[in-house]
Amino acid sequence: MNALAPTRPALLSLENIHVRYPAGRDWLGRSKGYAHALNGIDLALGEGETLGIVGESGCGKSTLAQLLLGLIAPASGEVRHAYESNAERQHAIQIVFQDPQSSLNPRLPVWKIITEPLVVHRQGRHRDLRAVAEGLAAQVGIRAEYLGRYPHQFSGGQRQRIAIARALSSAPDVIVLDEPTSALDISVQAQILNLLSRLQRERGLAYVLISHNVSVVRHLAERVAVMYLGQVVETGATATVLGRPQHPYTQLLLDAVPQLGKPLAGDTAAQRTELPGNRTLPAGCYFRDRCPKAAAGCEQPQALRRVAGAEVRCHRA
Ligand SMILES: Nc1ncnc2c1ncn2[C@@H]1O[C@H](COP(=O)(O)OP(=O)(O)OP(=O)(O)O)[C@@H](O)[C@H]1O
Ligand code: SF4
Ligand SMILES: [Mg+2]
Repeated sequence: MNALAPTRPALLSLENIHVRYPAGRDWLGRSKGYAHALNGIDLALGEGETLGIVGESGCGKSTLAQLLLGLIAPASGEVRHAYESNAERQHAIQIVFQDPQSSLNPRLPVWKIITEPLVVHRQGRHRDLRAVAEGLAAQVGIRAEYLGRYPHQFSGGQRQRIAIARALSSAPDVIVLDEPTSALDISVQAQILNLLSRLQRERGLAYVLISHNVSVVRHLAERVAVMYLGQVVETGATATVLGRPQHPYTQLLLDAVPQLGKPLAGDTAAQRTELPGNRTLPAGCYFRDRCPKAAAGCEQPQALRRVAGAEVRCHRA
C-alpha cells in the first residue's frame, strides 16, 4: 500500500498543490513577490479516518486547512473531491479553530451560533433551529438550558464544545481541526480529545487534525503528514512515522516533543534555528540549512520516496 494513500475511499485529494500569497509592495509600488505557503502538496483523506498534520509555525498548516475548505484556490495543482458544487463541499467540510473565544460570534446566543452553518446554507427553518441546537448540544455535553447564553459566559473547554457542535450542524463528512486543544487548559485538553474520538466513532467522521503537539496527533491520528516549508517531508502510518522517524526534520521535531499538554522543554536544535523565509525558496532540499545530516546530493531537489514503510523526502534517509 502507498503510505500516502488512505485505506478507505478518498473524500478529498490534493495533487501537487502550490499556494502563494502576494507579499505586498515596496515604496515604489513594485511587487515584493510572493510568500510561497504550499510548495507541492500531495495528500488524500479517506472516509472516517484521521490524518494528522504536524510541523512548526509558518509551515503552511492553516493554509492547507483553508484550501481543503475551498476558501482559497491553488496557484497550481489539482484538488479533487466528492462534491458536486462548492455549496455542497462547504457543507460537507467544516472547521474547528484553535481559539473558540475569537471564532464564535460574541453577539449571538449559543443556539444561533450552533445552527449558523444551517442558516448560511438555507437549510433550517427558523422555528426548528432551536430544537436542532438542543440535539447537537446534548451530543457535545452542553446543557439545553444554557443555549440562550452568550459565548463569554462559558469556559474555554465549553466554548470549544460549542464550536464542535456548530461544525456538526451541517452533518459534515470531514472536520478540519486546526490546533483544537492548544488554547485550552491541560485538564480540559483530554476531555475534548475524547469527545472528538467519540463523535468520530458515532458519526463516521473524517478528521484532518492540525497540531504542533505531536502527542495529540499520536493519540488520535492513524496517518500523519509532517510538513516543512509548504511540503510534506514524511508521511505514513502514525506509528511508523512517529515511532521510527526517517526524515532528519521529523527526528528533530520529535526531539522537541513535550508530553501531552506540557510545554516544550529545553533547548533543541529545532528551536534554536528558524524556518527559512518563504519569499525565495531554497534550491535543493528545503531543510538543508538546518539539517545535521546534510551532505553531497542535498543540493538537488528531493522527492518523496519509500523508506521503511513511510514516504520520505530525503535521499539519505
Ligand atoms: N493571508 C496571508 N497573506 C500573506 N501571507 C500569508 C497569509 N496567510 C499565511 N501567510 C504566510 O504563509 C505561510 C504559511 O502560513 P500558515 O498560517 O499556513 O502557517 P501555519 O503552519 O498554520 O502556522 P501556525 O502554526 O503559526 O498557525 C507563512 O509564511 C505566512 O506568513
Ligand atoms: S536531503 Fe540532505 S539536507 Fe535534506 S533532509 Fe536529507 S540529509 Fe538533510
Ligand atoms: Mg496555523
